[in-house]
Amino acid sequence: MMSQFLENVDKTRIEALNAFKEVADLEALEKARVEFLGLKSKITELSRTLGTLPKNERPSAGQAVNKAKTLVTQAHHHALARLEAAKERSDYLDVTLPGRPPLAGHKHLISQTMAEICRIFAKLGFSVVEGPEVETDYYNFEALNFPPDHPSRDMQETLFVSEKLLLRTHTSPVQIRTMEKTKPPVWVVAPGKTYRRDDDITHSPMFHQVEGLVVDKGITMADLKGVLTAFAAAFFSPETKIRLRPSFFPFTEPSAEVDIRCVLCQGQGCRLCKGSGWLELLGSGMVDPALYKFVGYNPDEVSGFAFGLGVDRAAMLKYGLSNIRHLYEGDLRFLRQF
Ligand code: DAH
Repeated sequence: MMSQFLENVDKTRIEALNAFKEVADLEALEKARVEFLGLKSKITELSRTLGTLPKNERPSAGQAVNKAKTLVTQAHHHALARLEAAKERSDYLDVTLPGRPPLAGHKHLISQTMAEICRIFAKLGFSVVEGPEVETDYYNFEALNFPPDHPSRDMQETLFVSEKLLLRTHTSPVQIRTMEKTKPPVWVVAPGKTYRRDDDITHSPMFHQVEGLVVDKGITMADLKGVLTAFAAAFFSPETKIRLRPSFFPFTEPSAEVDIRCVLCQGQGCRLCKGSGWLELLGSGMVDPALYKFVGYNPDEVSGFAFGLGVDRAAMLKYGLSNIRHLYEGDLRFLRQF
């Protein structure tokens, strides 16, 4: 009697599990549910006949029925999950639609600007070189004629890594590294990241510069002005005028700040140029012969000029950006405009 009962339970369970494994749609699943778990199902039927068994056989028979019920219920759940996932997939997969090409990114405005600046100087005969962002005090200051403890170091708001290692505050150290490695003539630009303890709407602690260095025979300030006039015309617009203002940098003598005619008012005077008609663009000057001592050049044979251009600033002026932070927030609504 008992073995007959257990055999029935087994048979029903196997039949049910197979049925749930094979159902191919939700309708078939519902049919199988009614058949194997419904009120008139075989399992329910078997539960009902428990009472006809001898008393001592009922507990283990009951356990067998319950176990079978649990397994069949689980099989139902699995089948339901499987069919629903498949339905969801087929709801959005329309194989007749044309494919969606993956979104292609593009270069950040700063990278574009840096590349454009280098392209312009390349056309003027300059090569592109690079140097490290973590620098030694020697290259960032000493060999550029910043004496130790000199107040001109304070202007640079330096971020130190250790006593003699720092994040370069300008790209000028690449001047020294280049001259150490090559003999004149030198015509190079050095683009890259620079760092200072500075943070407001026109300053970011990480910013970008392009350094320029020319050392050759008979170079004068007229060459400096000629090259930078050609650059301003190519980068901003053909009529862009520049002017040189006396300034000071430890590594150039004489030194000049280079301004361009205001891109907004063409020199009339406006909010952008604070009424002056001019915008500060870069620092420059004739290479101080003191530098040649550090790199073994003969100051009687060569002369040169150098300049340092702020890329972020140049981009802000060219594209009329009001806040340098737009360049660093990664907001696609801003970045996609360029
Ligand atoms: N290194 C200077 C700075 O970041 C800019 C500069 C001025 C670079 C004059 C030069 C130069 O090469 O000749 O403030």
